[in-house]
Amino acid sequence: MATLFKNIKELLQVRTEPVKFVSGIEMSILPTIKDAFLLVENGLISGFGSMPDCPSSNFDEVIDCTGKMVMPAWCDSHTHLVYAGNRESEFVDRINGLTYEEIANRGGGILNSAKTLQETSEDDLYNQSKVRLEEIIKLGTGAVEIKSGYGLTLEAELKMLRVIKRLKENYSIEIKATFLGAHALPKEFKNTSDYIDYVIEAILPIVAKENLAEYIDVFCETGYFSVEDTNRILEAGKQYGFTPKIHVNQFTAIGGVQAGVKHNALSVDHLEEMRDVDIEALRGSQTMPVALPGCSYFLSIPYTPARRIIDAGLPLALATDYNPGSAPSGNMNFVVSTACVKMKMTPEEAINASTINGAYAMGLQDKVGSITNGKLANLILTKPINSYGFIPYSFGENHIESIFLAGED
Ligand code: NIG
Ligand code: FE
Repeated sequence: MATLFKNIKELLQVRTEPVKFVSGIEMSILPTIKDAFLLVENGLISGFGSMPDCPSSNFDEVIDCTGKMVMPAWCDSHTHLVYAGNRESEFVDRINGLTYEEIANRGGGILNSAKTLQETSEDDLYNQSKVRLEEIIKLGTGAVEIKSGYGLTLEAELKMLRVIKRLKENYSIEIKATFLGAHALPKEFKNTSDYIDYVIEAILPIVAKENLAEYIDVFCETGYFSVEDTNRILEAGKQYGFTPKIHVNQFTAIGGVQAGVKHNALSVDHLEEMRDVDIEALRGSQTMPVALPGCSYFLSIPYTPARRIIDAGLPLALATDYNPGSAPSGNMNFVVSTACVKMKMTPEEAINASTINGAYAMGLQDKVGSITNGKLANLILTKPINSYGFIPYSFGENHIESIFLAGED
């Protein structure tokens, strides 16, 4: 099966040489080809260039893209999109003045979602989650990481991870699974240390045995899990070959970034509160900082200081954090736009952060995130637009005409 996309107004994120991720000043460069063609064979990108060089052999399908752009589909490296029910009532509580912390202390928050999920059957959870997965595909996402962490018991954590596995089997979007057993302290446990024992001894070995996750996560935060708890869980995860991708510095900076770097985390995510020492700790590491502007927007908390991070020469990825409590939206277009408007990222930086750097933040940099021969043809075809800057500029609008996963729309 060979498909030719021809007369592309501009082909974005073109990388002839494989690139792991882009950092600092490199983030301001988005390589493109104007008046381009793109060739897809058997689901993979097999050629691209300027229209005058367009091959003229027989193709099974030819798509005329006059006035439209083609780019790699969004890479959303941080979501919790497998969950049960919703938390609109907490949203109203916050409008009426309660804080996220006060709601959590009253038994709302993560524990509220965990209770609902524990009472939901695996089939029901799958059916609720697949609606969200289908929705983000329509919004242009071609690769996504999904976490557990709303189970908090052996049975319910496995239920979540099995649902993620079923989604992987049934959809052609790229999916990576993360085990987030240490997301909140269940009421049944007196302290985090006892719960970490339970996660390490009772859950982790089964997750590993059933091959249900690639990554391990922990919510390293005041009132949740300490740096010491984080070290314990990451060390235990390492015994089973799980790479860390962790929640740090959302509300307070307590040394989570340093713990992540020490354990060679693939990413450290949130980073709304960043001290200079936290930025320094990332220098020279292979750990990707990940910002989640949808969470900052929804909770009205500070935005990750993208300018300080990028101007320090570091890379940055953007993701949605899609979850029922702090970011009930999986719309990467909104994330890209919000990063430009609120975090002062340029369109080039925001697109790099949401494609190539997002791919790296979930270990998929060899498969997706750029227009490179041999990568999966997970692509966005835009509606006719003036320039790629129009995507973040015209916030809240849908500029996507179609999405292709492994070359199929
Ligand atoms: O990434 N911060 C921790 N976990 C989620 C929110 C969890 C919830 O409120 O349900 C997050 O923001
Ligand atoms: Fe999260």
